[in-house]
Amino acid sequence: MKTEKIKPLIKGIIIHMPGVKKILTQKTRGTTESRYCYSVWMRHLTNWYTVKKRIPEVVAELGPGDSLGIGLAALLSGSKQIYTLDVVKYWDTKQNLKIFNELVELFKNKSDIPNNTEYPKVKPLLENYDFPTYILSDSRLNETLNEERLESIRKEILDIDNPNNSFIKCYIPWEDSNIIKPESVDFIYSQAVLEHVEDLEKTYNAMHKWLKTDGLMSHDIDFKSHGITNSWNGHWMFSDFEWKIVKGGKKFLINRQPFSRHVELHLKYGFKILKMLPTTLENKLNRKHLSKRFKNLSEEDLTTSSVYILSKKI
Ligand SMILES: C[S@@+](CC[C@H](N)C(=O)[O-])C[C@H]1O[C@@H](n2cnc3c(N)ncnc32)[C@H](O)[C@@H]1O
Repeated sequence: MKTEKIKPLIKGIIIHMPGVKKILTQKTRGTTESRYCYSVWMRHLTNWYTVKKRIPEVVAELGPGDSLGIGLAALLSGSKQIYTLDVVKYWDTKQNLKIFNELVELFKNKSDIPNNTEYPKVKPLLENYDFPTYILSDSRLNETLNEERLESIRKEILDIDNPNNSFIKCYIPWEDSNIIKPESVDFIYSQAVLEHVEDLEKTYNAMHKWLKTDGLMSHDIDFKSHGITNSWNGHWMFSDFEWKIVKGGKKFLINRQPFSRHVELHLKYGFKILKMLPTTLENKLNRKHLSKRFKNLSEEDLTTSSVYILSKKI
């Protein structure tokens, strides 16, 4: 088991060498594909709709990654404004525009939601992947896909930092919760992001501040080691010092916080959990190999590899 730690540590040391960071590709994968963005948004929207039975007007996304596609899909469903918050700008305008135009076609064709055969790793799973006409009726689509509206959104994509934009508000890096007016957001979601966030307390606190009372949050969180170790949960073997080396000076890697920490933070910051869909994997690590900090992880934490959580601000 100890040998499993050597490769990530060496990699971390190499990243620190002059010039190496520049030649490593800086991509997050995922939102480079319009079908992925469409699939992810529809999954969050479907869950929102089970509670609210309407379209969220103001939406905020943490960590859009390689494009703003998931948020653009929210606009095409009828949301009036999206806040997109990240720490690194991975996308470019050409990419956003291309994804937007492809998304328009997916909505116009009332395409079924790409399912777990096409995206086996994407969660949450849905019971039904048919185009959700019960959420997006023809008359709603006529309004949201109106050419004039689409052109206004395209203009904002081309001029994303314009403070007068009304559809898209983009903050990269976001540092301060004051960027969004308190109690102004209906729906906050993220996909494969909260496992990367360095300051979870600050982020949960900010999300609580931004949401309207009764507003919803929808997060999919992946607790796996993201390929850093051979075992899916091998990251819990490293001491904090060793992990710093593995991180290699990157802005973020994975924060190594387990499932129970997110449940705790939901409760601490005033969110009522409405739905929780954990995925489990077998734990093959011997407890004696876990670092001091993670020695007392519960069996549930040691075997929960991802979770989808839908919650409400109370
Ligand atoms: C694995 S990528 C996921 C991207 C996208 N959501 C997807 O589904 O493909 C993780 C994203 O989280 C972002 N991220 C990391 N820390 C963050 C933070 N504190 N606030 C917002 N985004 C953050 C990263 O910059 C990156 O865009």
